[in-house]
Amino acid sequence: MKIMVVGGGGREHAIIKSIKKNPKAEKIYALPGNGGISQDAQCVDIGAKDIDAIVEFAKKEGIDFAVVAPDDPLVLGAVDALHENGIKCFGPCAAAAAIEGSKVFSKGLMKKYGIPTADYEVFDDAEKALVYIENNAKYPTVIKADGLALGKGVIIAQDKDEAVSAVKSIMEDRIFGASGSNIVIEEFLTGVEVSVLAFTDGKTVVPMISSMDHKRALDGDEGLNTGGMGTIAPSPFYTKEIADECMEKIFLPTVEAMNKENRKFKGCLYFGLMLTPNGPAVIEYNCRFGDPETQVVLPMLKTDLLDIMLAVEEERLADINVEFESGACCCVIMASGGYPLSYGKGYEITIEDDIEAMVYHAGTKKDGDKFITSGGRVLGVCVREKELSSAISGAYEQVKKINFKDAFYRRDIGAKALKAQR
Ligand code: AMP
Ligand code: GLY
Repeated sequence: MKIMVVGGGGREHAIIKSIKKNPKAEKIYALPGNGGISQDAQCVDIGAKDIDAIVEFAKKEGIDFAVVAPDDPLVLGAVDALHENGIKCFGPCAAAAAIEGSKVFSKGLMKKYGIPTADYEVFDDAEKALVYIENNAKYPTVIKADGLALGKGVIIAQDKDEAVSAVKSIMEDRIFGASGSNIVIEEFLTGVEVSVLAFTDGKTVVPMISSMDHKRALDGDEGLNTGGMGTIAPSPFYTKEIADECMEKIFLPTVEAMNKENRKFKGCLYFGLMLTPNGPAVIEYNCRFGDPETQVVLPMLKTDLLDIMLAVEEERLADINVEFESGACCCVIMASGGYPLSYGKGYEITIEDDIEAMVYHAGTKKDGDKFITSGGRVLGVCVREKELSSAISGAYEQVKKINFKDAFYRRDIGAKALKAQR
């Protein structure tokens, strides 16, 4: 098979490495891929949002199967366009991707179908939102831009002043662009966050092992929100009882709700959950694999990924026995100093030959036979072990074997999870 993976980060690198294990995968293209991905796939200089060029390429090359990994092309209808041209895909159509693309839609879906989530109000007008804040808000309060905002469209306001300035900056100054034409103001939930990625073909839901992201830039969950500074899987907070409750109250009802709305979801549905004192609740849905959750979940997948993806597309997921390895995995993200704000690029990366980690490239470029940095998140260094403790210590041991100018990483990935386990 000729396979095409749309995207170019650490998540896509992990997906490609998994797909490559299947002998059916004769040729893999990455659009656009990155420096590190070029070791595992042929990179093609087409942006992940350039739907027309993606479809043209797929037709010209006779692609048999496309995996659309990032949120933007999914929300923009890449899968619909590929399907119209007879190309099989893994990923939801645009109508289903709205579960991530519009918070107004996803909150409405949860309310309509009784899926637990934070209480909320929607506003399409800054003045009305400000009146609401004046009279009703409890603090902290959470203010979210409706549309995609590079995972950054959420402001947690600690008091009225912060809430007022959040509304103004999202709706009037449009700091998150057009995604701020509508906002959601919602209740602040407390608890531990867990990510659960699930395969679904619209009929069957198969949750993968749970994982835990570390979104803030600095140790102790301090500093700015980032795309994710590291992950562990599985999360010790996510017990069998909680998993059963999530299946019954969240996973199955969500897939059924999407069917009832004529938005059948096929692909990887990401449940961002808060384990609150009142039970698990949905913080957000994503219409795709998480990044860097994928980098710890896929190395634990025993069943062949490509076979699962084909089964999802052909709606025969029920026939596949999806299995995971026991043990645990830890991924430490090595980032460029300054990320998530401004940072330098073009620094040479050196990796010692005896490295014993899965190194997924997120922001790298090839420069001759060297790799140089080209993004905020540069590499994900992942180690799988029998125990969470050894996976964490192993990942940090391997990180020492990688160097580039101004590299930084959190020193406490998995620390909270480890403490919970003890
Ligand atoms: P999101 O982009 O929806 O994942 O939100 C980013 C982060 O904001 C989440 O990972 C949570 O840490 C936090 N967050 C979002 N919504 C809430 C909420 N209702 N209560 C508490 N924290 C939240
Ligand atoms: N790690 C969070 C996300 O992929 O959105």
